[in-house]
Amino acid sequence: MNILIAGGNGFIGSHTYISLRERFPEAQLVIVDNLVNSTHKTLESLRKMTGENILFYEIDLCDEQALAALFRGYQFDGVIHFAGYKAVGESVVNPLKYYTNNLNSTLHLVKYCLEYDVNKFVFSSSATVYGDGVSPLMESDALLPASNPYGQTKAMCEQILIDTARANPEFSVALLRYFNPVGAHESGLIGEAANGMPNNLMPYIAKVAKGELPILNIFGGDYPTEDGTGIRDYIHVMDLAEGHAAALERLSSGVCIYNLGSSKGTSVLQLVKAFEEVNGVKVPYQIVERRPGDLAIIYADASKAEKELNWKAKRTIKEMCQDAWRFEKHDVLI
Ligand code: WQD
Repeated sequence: MNILIAGGNGFIGSHTYISLRERFPEAQLVIVDNLVNSTHKTLESLRKMTGENILFYEIDLCDEQALAALFRGYQFDGVIHFAGYKAVGESVVNPLKYYTNNLNSTLHLVKYCLEYDVNKFVFSSSATVYGDGVSPLMESDALLPASNPYGQTKAMCEQILIDTARANPEFSVALLRYFNPVGAHESGLIGEAANGMPNNLMPYIAKVAKGELPILNIFGGDYPTEDGTGIRDYIHVMDLAEGHAAALERLSSGVCIYNLGSSKGTSVLQLVKAFEEVNGVKVPYQIVERRPGDLAIIYADASKAEKELNWKAKRTIKEMCQDAWRFEKHDVLI
């Protein structure tokens, strides 16, 4: 089996490479990535972790010629598509960059899948497609306008894939809606290596704990939650990666949509306290104004994936904090 992992050198993609190798030991795995949000260090780590030479092509999916040559070179059986810009704040400031890149990369991949009879497509979607829906969020919930252009591109890509599958019955699609992926592989060799200032909570906490950043700003302490801070559904990146391998294995026909979350809500303060306790560090913080666009409470009902994919997020908040910290420290060591 030949699998193309588009954006496979990124945070979720690199962890999924490890899970795919575990589940499909004989598969040929090919990473294509333009390295806009990752480095060769991740490829070196994957080589070290698997003991194999990684088939990697530095290609931008918006470069149709290069992409066509890649599809001519391999008879892929499936594609897992992670490649896309994902910074919510940046998407608000520069929507055209997000629409151009995230839509064109998907359109090109789908075009060459149809041209070369690649009939399994797993797409990295996001809970942002639910807009300000009420949690627990279910796949059958109506999609509400996403609160930012990043989320809109995810909803549009979902629609592109749904319509393509409807017009091409042999083309099967899995839409995987992530909640909040955090943590790192237990080796500490790969993780969420944010280029520049981290956008998301967990890498920010880790940088404050390491002393690289002075203090954590907690956005809002007056939400209608137990401790007033925002609640999210954090899922260990390795659980998420295993969800992709399960979806690829079970993908047969049509379109299936799955929430990949823990189905549990954790507040910002609870995550900070867990991080401090399990790692024996201090994370200085101050509560500031809410961040525009943030919702109070977001968490999944992931029972459909549990039933149909025989998959369940099993790693705990403490393991997420431990693994994120180990990667952050290891980042210094190598
Ligand atoms: C989590 C909580 C913040 C930073 C986004 C995308 C989503 C997905 C994950 C791609 C919130 C609070 C955060 C900080 C804080 N990305 N926070 N101080 O916004 O839930 O989801 O990233 O798929 O699509 O929307 O993640 O980590 O930014 O925030 O208090 O410095 O932490 O208010 O409650 P978010 P996040």
